[in-house]
Order: sequence, then structure tokens, then C-alpha cells
Amino acid sequence: MYFYKNEFVHKNDIHISPDDRGYYFGDGIYEVFRVYQGELYEASAHMQRLERTASEVRIQLPYTSDEIIVILNKLIQQNELIEGTVYLQITRGEAPRAHPFPIQAKPILLAYCSEVKRPLATIQNGIKAITEPDIRWLRCDLKTLNLLPNVLAKQAALDAGVQEVVLHRDGTVTECSASNIMIIKDAILYTHPANHLILHGITRAVVLRLAHALGIPVKDVAFTTEQLLQADEAFITGTTVEITPLIQIDGQAIGSGTPGPLTAKLQTEFERTFL
Ligand code: PDD
Repeated sequence: MYFYKNEFVHKNDIHISPDDRGYYFGDGIYEVFRVYQGELYEASAHMQRLERTASEVRIQLPYTSDEIIVILNKLIQQNELIEGTVYLQITRGEAPRAHPFPIQAKPILLAYCSEVKRPLATIQNGIKAITEPDIRWLRCDLKTLNLLPNVLAKQAALDAGVQEVVLHRDGTVTECSASNIMIIKDAILYTHPANHLILHGITRAVVLRLAHALGIPVKDVAFTTEQLLQADEAFITGTTVEITPLIQIDGQAIGSGTPGPLTAKLQTEFERTFL
């Protein structure tokens, strides 16, 4: 079952208008939630981020946060989802193509869930990445549908035979195609400050809390690609990837070239937050 506009419907019964501004302009916003043991993980943090993005791009949410959570929980129940993700998208609505906000259009909500297992192999063994210039706009803190640069970056990684891409602006590392990035150097954890150049990841925030609890010093100070290559450990964080070690970048090993000890400590602690 899906949720579209105002009802629960089968996917095949959904009729989407070509006038949905999501198609013409990428004029919409989204969230991806994790479901562990049949429950939404960090639901209120996702809703706060959704509300902030909606307000910044001036889309009126068609439901309150509490109503949206009820809808998502019903979806999870109807689909008997135990482990997976929930995708939630709100576009500005349907109107003939013209740039100004349409006066009549009503925002459209789409939500569905997918069975997605935790990527245990890569969480354990780590992944390789390449670096690429971050060609995105200056509001990367907003979770909008305009993901073409992210799609191109991810594909560049796959074409290069690795799984992820580390984005940088003039040598300063920002984040990855669909995750945040952190490094450990001399037992200190570094990550890009939560400003307009990165998405303020829910997993990023969880990991920073865990680091504090474990007594790992945290500096939300940006680092360069050079510092990344010299790091003792590196990993990415995100709803789907959780905490995934980076073991090689641009063909160079990070640290020992295997997942590092503090990364493993954070992973163990992270699992305890939902198990
Ligand atoms: N992406 N940075 C970017 C650019 C992202 O797209 C995401 C999430 C993250 C991590 O945020 P969080 O921890 O809240 O998932 C960071 C989702 C999963 C996606 O687009 O599929």
C-alpha cells in the first residue's frame, strides 16, 4: 500500500499528473526514515527537518507532523514492515508549467515503505570512494528533490568501480552523495559543521551524541581532502548506510585500510540505540 494525496491506495491505482511541479521543477521536498523492528527510528528529528525544509522553500505541509506520523505508522502496519525504509515526499502541487508559485495548487503528499535490510557486509568491511567537486547549490541543508548532482556523483563513483563519492568544495570536504562523512585523527572526531553546505543528517546527529557519550572528543570543523587521506579512520553516516567505514579513497588506503577501532566502537553503540 502507498499513501497518495489523501488516501491509502495500491501503487497501480495512483495516477500522477504531468503537471505535478515535482516533475517540471523538482519543486518538492522529502525525507527517508529508517524502520527497525516495525518502528520509525528518530521520527521526531525527521519531522523537525521536514518542517524546516518546508518552511524555507515555502511549501505548506498538507498535514501536521503528528498526522503525518500516524499516516506513516499505518503504512508500516498495512505493509507489515519490520525492517526497511519509509519514503515521504511533498511537492508544491499540480499546475500548468510556469515558474511562479501557483495560487490554486495544493501540496501533494506521497509516502510508501520498502523492505530494505541493513547493509551488514559493507557496515562490517567498509567501502571505497573517489573524490569529486561538489557542484551543488548553496542550500544543501534543505532536503529537496533536486538531486541531479547527487545522482551524477554517485554514478561517477560506480563507473570508477567504487561505491561512494566524497564531495569537496575547493578541497574542503562537505559530504557524500547521500550521506555525511566523518574522520578520526589522533582520537578526535571531525565533521563538517551543520551549515548551508551539508544536509544536517539525522544519523550524523545521533553519532555525535554517541561520540560524546563515549568520551570521544568532537570537532565540527571542516577538513580537506588531504586531511581525509591522512586520517586514522573515516566513515560515512546516513539512514540507509548507518555507520559505514571508508577504507580507501582515490586508490589510497585510509589508516590501515580496514575499518578502524573507534568506528567499530561507534557502530556497536549505534546498534544499541535501536536494538
Ligand atoms: N539521504 N547527506 C545527503 C546529501 C543525504 O542525501 C543524506 C540522506 C544524508 C544523511 O542524512 P540522514 O542521516 O538524515 O539519512 C546526508 C537519504 C537517505 C536519501 O536521499 O536517500
